[in-house]
Amino acid sequence: MSETYRNPLRDPLDRRLPRMAGPSALVMFGVTGDLSRKKLLPAIYDLANRGLLSPGFGLVGFARRDWAAEHFAAVVREAVEENCRTPFRTDVWQQLLEGIRFVPGELDDDEAFQTLAATLAELDRAQGTGGNHAFYLSVPPRAFDTVISQLKRHHLAGDENDRELGRWSRVVIEKPFGHDLASARELERNVSAAFESQSVFRIDHYLGKETVQNMLAFRFANELFEPIWNRTYVDHVQITMAEDIGIGGRAGYYDGIGAARDVIQNHLLQLLALTAMEEPTSFAAEQLSAEKQKVLAATRPGRDLAQDAVRGQYLAGWAGGRYVKGYLEEEGIPPDSRTETYAAIRVDIDNRRWAGVPFYLRAAKRLPRRVTEVALILKPAPHLPFARTDSSGLGSNALVMRIQPDEGIALRFGAKVPATGMELRDVTMDFGYGRSFAESSPEAYERLILDVLLGDPPLFPRPEEVESSWAILDPVLEHWADSDESPQGYDSGSWGPECARQMLARHGRVWRRP
Ligand code: BG6
Repeated sequence: MSETYRNPLRDPLDRRLPRMAGPSALVMFGVTGDLSRKKLLPAIYDLANRGLLSPGFGLVGFARRDWAAEHFAAVVREAVEENCRTPFRTDVWQQLLEGIRFVPGELDDDEAFQTLAATLAELDRAQGTGGNHAFYLSVPPRAFDTVISQLKRHHLAGDENDRELGRWSRVVIEKPFGHDLASARELERNVSAAFESQSVFRIDHYLGKETVQNMLAFRFANELFEPIWNRTYVDHVQITMAEDIGIGGRAGYYDGIGAARDVIQNHLLQLLALTAMEEPTSFAAEQLSAEKQKVLAATRPGRDLAQDAVRGQYLAGWAGGRYVKGYLEEEGIPPDSRTETYAAIRVDIDNRRWAGVPFYLRAAKRLPRRVTEVALILKPAPHLPFARTDSSGLGSNALVMRIQPDEGIALRFGAKVPATGMELRDVTMDFGYGRSFAESSPEAYERLILDVLLGDPPLFPRPEEVESSWAILDPVLEHWADSDESPQGYDSGSWGPECARQMLARHGRVWRRP
């Protein structure tokens, strides 16, 4: 092989050491929310601690609070100390503190945006941010349009002049991107009227998880699995995102959104795309997205929506060793809410590789444990030369990619029980990240925030992917909206409603109990 040969699959995810971001300011809208406190602010600190933020970095909080900058800095520090992944170091904090600013105001307040523009100019003079700005919209989806038009009106969205001066302006949009296909398209129109397409970063934090990126390595770096990765060997696929928590203090966000919009439209369909797509010609954003987009465009919900899309709502029950409230008793939830906290849907992929292989997606709150996994369940061997009694303990072979926790990959197959005639039982062969690598994985948000500051787009869904995902989900959502039935109740701490069990049972299948 010539020296200059470059495997197209080796860039750009193959950066051995992460690059440091250049000078820039990150403006956070919605900085008082849960996501900021638990994930975003700690991730910024962790990046600083890993030496990945430039000394010319600034952090600007924008919120409807009458706070002085010092108060905001104290709030950031508390969030960081509580939730950072790497050790808290005073010198790193002091450095970060120098670039922290706060702008109080409403999102539709022009004066507040003028103050924001002035604050960014001052920050550039003081810290040397280079006039580069990333605007992170961690606000309720209904506020996206307001913030975007305010940024444009106040000349913060970047223009020809900025580009000539080598400055950039980027916008980061938290999910959900729209609440159906039509609203996602409208939001896209508004965003692209303000920002250039390469400056828009739509967040799906699952794509920032190491284990999700490993799905690409697992599938495309190995010869072992490709031959079975198709309809000839795979009976069906189960993609599960189970959470043991309830909705906590997020009633305002969650009610009316529900499990399907909250995580199936984005996280689970992205996992499906990575599982089912063909090999991209490279891991550059265009190529990766082209393959994901192709498979999403071939995906549709099951034909019989009454049976192939079911939903549930958690009732009171024992979960995690304590008795917890039902969804309808949670604070802020209307007593007649029909929002689903459990959703399971069957989708089919109309292409040569997957024709006839159902993909079952389920997502829920208040299940017995937190686990996200993708499981390929294989067809039975065509013939078993064993006595029926010997093989009664044999299930289907399965290949399971565990996204979290206990990140790894497991292979389940049958083996002979020692010291018996030929009795068979399922056993598992297991790869665990924690056991194979010394390095711990960065949090998804660390990777994604760094990629925004670097302008590196492969881990962010493109508009076509977002729209295709809504096109898959819209018929299901319409079917539920038109139905007279409410979501079926399930006890907190159980594996979900009876209708979900029946959904698989009528095809002789069962949900995994991961
Ligand atoms: C978010 C959802 O996208 O993902 C939440 O809005 C959910 O409802 C969360 O709890 C789970 O994320 P993770 O990384 O803990 O699986």
